Order: sequence, then C-alpha cells, then structure tokens
Amino acid sequence: MMLHKKLYNWIDDRLGMHEIINEKRSGYLLPPNVNAWYSLGSVLLVIFALQVTTGLLLMLYYVPDVDKAFSSVAFIMNDIPLGRLVRLFHAVGSSLMIVVLVLHMLSILFMGSYKSPREMHWLTGFILLLMAMGISLTGYLLPWNQLSFWATTVATDGIGTIPVVGPYLVELLRGGKMVGFKTLGRFYTLHVGLLPAGITILIGVHLFLIQRTGVSTPPFGLEDTSNPWKEEKFKYEDHPGGIPFFPNFFLQDLISISLYLACFLALVFFAPNLFLPATANLPANPYVTPAHIKPEWYFLANYQTLKLFPSEIIGLIVQVLAIAFVALLPFIDRGAEKHPLKRPFFTITALGCILLWIGMTVWGYYS
Ligand code: HEM
Repeated sequence: MMLHKKLYNWIDDRLGMHEIINEKRSGYLLPPNVNAWYSLGSVLLVIFALQVTTGLLLMLYYVPDVDKAFSSVAFIMNDIPLGRLVRLFHAVGSSLMIVVLVLHMLSILFMGSYKSPREMHWLTGFILLLMAMGISLTGYLLPWNQLSFWATTVATDGIGTIPVVGPYLVELLRGGKMVGFKTLGRFYTLHVGLLPAGITILIGVHLFLIQRTGVSTPPFGLEDTSNPWKEEKFKYEDHPGGIPFFPNFFLQDLISISLYLACFLALVFFAPNLFLPATANLPANPYVTPAHIKPEWYFLANYQTLKLFPSEIIGLIVQVLAIAFVALLPFIDRGAEKHPLKRPFFTITALGCILLWIGMTVWGYYS
C-alpha cells in the first residue's frame, strides 16, 4: 500500500475522517438550480489565503519604523528575488478582495439569500466586509510613502468630525495629534495581528452558519420563488436530487478561482500601477501635502459624500444611517419573495443605490 494511503488509513482509524469527508464531499448536495455566483465564497477563501501568505512573506523584510519602512519596501521591490511580485500580489490582491466581496454581497442581495434564517450569515459577512476595509486602510499606511501618509491623514480626519468623541477617537487611532510613528505602530498591530485573527475567526463562524442551515435555493428557474423557511424552528435546508459538492460543484469553484486568478495576474503583470500611483514612490513627508490626495477607490464615495454636505457631520450621519440600513437589511426586508423581478421595489431601489455609489466614486475620483 502507498505511504499516503497508509497514513490516511492510520488517521481514519482514529478519527473517522472518511465518514466526515464523504458526508461533506459527495453527500453534500447543492440546489439543482445552483449557479456560478455560489462559487464566489470559495474565491474569497482563496484570496484571503493568498493575502495571508504574501503578507507573511512581506513581514520577513518589512520594518515598521518611520525611518526604515519606506526603504524596507524599496528593498523588497528592488533587491529581494521575487520581492516585487510578492508585494504586487499583496497590493493588487487587497483591492480585488473588495471587488469580489462586493460581488458576493450583490449576488446574495439579488437572490434574496439574506432572508431568514440567514440573518446571521449576512451580519457576519457584513462585519467581514468592514474588517476587510479596515485591513486595507491600515495596510495602506505601512509603506510610509506620500500617498499612504496623506491618505491616512485624510481618512482619520473624517473620524474627527464625529461630535464630542471624534477628536479623542482620532487621537486614539493616531497615537497623537498627527499621523506619526505611533500611528504606524498601531496600524501595524491591527494589520498583521488583530484584524487577520478577527477575520479568520469570523470566516469560521460564517462557514459554520452556512453548514448548519445549508445554502439557500436560488430563485431562478422555479415556479415557487418564495423563501421556503416558514416555520420558526431550526431546519436544515436540504436539496434532494441536488448537485453533489464534490466533484460537480467543486469543478465550478475551480473554474471561478481560475477566472479570478487570470484577471488578477493580468492586472499584476500589465497594470500594477493602477493601484500604485506615482505618489506611492515618494517617501512620506509630513511638511509637503501632495496636490491631489485621495483615499483608496472604495472609500471615494464616502469621501465625496463628506465633502458634499455643508457640514461634515450631516455627511457622516447620512453614511452611518446608510451603513446601518444595509447591515440590518434582513431584519427590515422580511417579505417572502426572493426573485428580483417579482420584487421590483427592492430591485429598482438597490440598482439606484448601486448607480449612486458608482456616481459618487467617479465624482470623488475626478473632483
Ligand atoms: C472574507 C469574506 C467572506 C467569505 C470568505 C465568505 C464565504 C462564503 C462562502 C464559502 C459561502 C457559501 C457559498 C456561497 O454562497 O458562496 C458564503 C455564503 C454566504 N455569505 Fe459569505 N463570505 C464572505 C463575506 C460575505 C459578505 C460581505 C456577505 C454580505 C454582507 C456575506 C453573506 C453571505 C450569505 C448571506 C451567505 C449565504 C448564501 C446562501 O446560503 O445562499 N458573506 N460565504
């Protein structure tokens, strides 16, 4: 018998692994009308694993010190074999992770998969999105270049507009009145310690919830497109006659992951500067403010909203309300219908909000 078989049997005799794998592999049936959007969760898992791997590699040479951070990143880019590739993987991957997170969220919105009993799936996912934005914000400062220094100054200034506690919060985050060495220490701790640990735990909870309820049935190609969960007691949503996860849907997962990797590598090799503008090549200088200082693209809409209102506090309240509304959506939209065309009010409002967000982002970019 081959060595790996022997090892597998040895573990199996002690833990009954085969039973678990069989049950979760071929025995785990997905809805017969399952679609490719259901593979985005797996794409996200791959992206997160890639971010952790490249992040650990960067940590081998990165120095979180205001006098050395910029040169340590330059050293990674110019002197370490494959260092440039690892850094670009990490920088481009962080932006694409937000893109895929948003696509995963949108597919769930339009298919009504956030409806009961999946409120907690949505909430844990929403917190994951906020944490992913937080990990990007904190990571942006680490190279200590002009862009990162000033973008962090602008982003933390926004928090200062909160009445009463705002100035204290900014000082807590920055470790002082200005962005400085204490800010770098704090952001580094959040970026490589607290946030990745928190995201890992929350992904675990998210997957546990999905395992407990089973995935939802998509509303397409069915007569009855209402939410099947009617009783108030816990019930696993099984899918008799459905598609086995392994090998059938696993192949779909592999196709989506390959497509993602193709887009990712195309950006890394052909357009990495999309995410690293020229100001990212200058060391941070607290005394020289660059002409056009902008936060990362996914904060542009928030940034523009803050600028739009006569008083920043109104802009802030509007945003907090909008975020709270999206976070609590499963508790607000309690209708049974899941098909997007059979709930036109929801679909038109959601499309309107998406267009507004795109418009504000473009405006923020060009303003
Ligand atoms: C790192 C972030 C995330 C990871 C790794 C992740 C992973 C997954 C996976 C593997 C699934 C099961 C298959 C699928 O439908 O794709 C899933 C389902 C789900 N996710 Fe996420 N997700 C993340 C973020 C989010 C976000 C931001 C939201 C929404 C705000 C969300 C809400 C949901 C919901 C409601 C389901 C259940 C869908 C169903 O049963 O049909 N997730 N997620």
